[in-house]
Amino acid sequence: MKIGLLGFGTVGSGVYEIVKSTSTCFFDDIEVKKILVKDEKDKVMDIITTDAEEILNDKEIDLVVEVMGGIHPAYEYIMKALKNKKSVVTANKAVVAAYLKEFTKTAYENGVSFEYEASVCGGIPWIKSLEKVKRIDEVTEVYGIFNGTSNFILDNMTKEGYEFQEILKKAQEKGYAESDPSADIDGIDIMRKLLITSSLAFECEVPEKEIDVFGIRNIQKTDIEYFKNIKCTVKLIAAGKKYEDKYCAVVEPVIFKNERIEAAVPQNFNIGTIYGKTIGELKFYGQGAGKLPTGNAIVQDIIDIIEVKGKLKERKFENKLTKDSSLVSGKYYIRINNEEFEKENSDIIEKKLENSGNLIYITKKIDCYTMRKTAEKYIKEGIFYARFED
Ligand code: HSE
Repeated sequence: MKIGLLGFGTVGSGVYEIVKSTSTCFFDDIEVKKILVKDEKDKVMDIITTDAEEILNDKEIDLVVEVMGGIHPAYEYIMKALKNKKSVVTANKAVVAAYLKEFTKTAYENGVSFEYEASVCGGIPWIKSLEKVKRIDEVTEVYGIFNGTSNFILDNMTKEGYEFQEILKKAQEKGYAESDPSADIDGIDIMRKLLITSSLAFECEVPEKEIDVFGIRNIQKTDIEYFKNIKCTVKLIAAGKKYEDKYCAVVEPVIFKNERIEAAVPQNFNIGTIYGKTIGELKFYGQGAGKLPTGNAIVQDIIDIIEVKGKLKERKFENKLTKDSSLVSGKYYIRINNEEFEKENSDIIEKKLENSGNLIYITKKIDCYTMRKTAEKYIKEGIFYARFED
């Protein structure tokens, strides 16, 4: 099988390295024929081009790997490749989250595959495992730590006592966080991964605007100290639940008791959990980012496409589910130094505490949407909240 790579950054070069250096029998027939780069100065090998058409119109290329990132022109290139009857493998969660249904349908209509294992939890076989569980079970719940940067920040604040800004800077130095780290710390990256996961798990379209998102930008050392004192650990969690014809998908910090597996996930690792009726609870742990783990997930998709040899999967997103935020409810920890907050929200407050000069509120059991709406007005004032896991 001849492959065209759209993009030759960290992930693209990881794919190339794995294909070049692996000699198991699965690689006898895989060849990278052409690679697209943006700049002329990056044309360091004969197979490198700056013209996408050389790949998209090459009749010998059966499979295109899209690892450019961003929505445009990734969307146009993927659509053109599929319409030209080339299978597509991508790691680009932004474009997959925005066009999952359209790509899936176009691939099926053109008799080719569209695979995106690497777009969620990097090297962890997450999408394929989810699909395997669904061969027998209805999946009613998925959740996990799907963002390595936020986990690196929270883990180092917990274990090493860093303040948020200090450890964010270290995450950027290590190349985990982007120079504009909003997607990681405001929960956008993890929200996209949740959108893809929930759509597949519950076989429905999940509109981005229906996912309540609250990140970790406002967390402080004082919050971490409070959680440590009560023998808990906070993590940024993506959670999706389905019950009958209702569903809920939410991104928010969650407080786990220290004996829970999630509490122990270190550094920039990811973990994902799936619930199925007969299999019960399954957990998947590993590297959710990086050149070789993400490259590995892409190459596994390529091998799967070669192995199925035209026996296409028909993925559907036809369930009509309505959002019901009460599916994700609990007591919340809130830190906000504003007397107004207390007056305005006395109906949801169960307990008021003081911690190192900060006002802390523990709420009654409320749903995740009520919590996010309550916090909305106070984001700029530095409110931080997290849900206590039952
Ligand atoms: N910024 C992402 C993370 C990269 O930290 O998990 C992988 O999607």
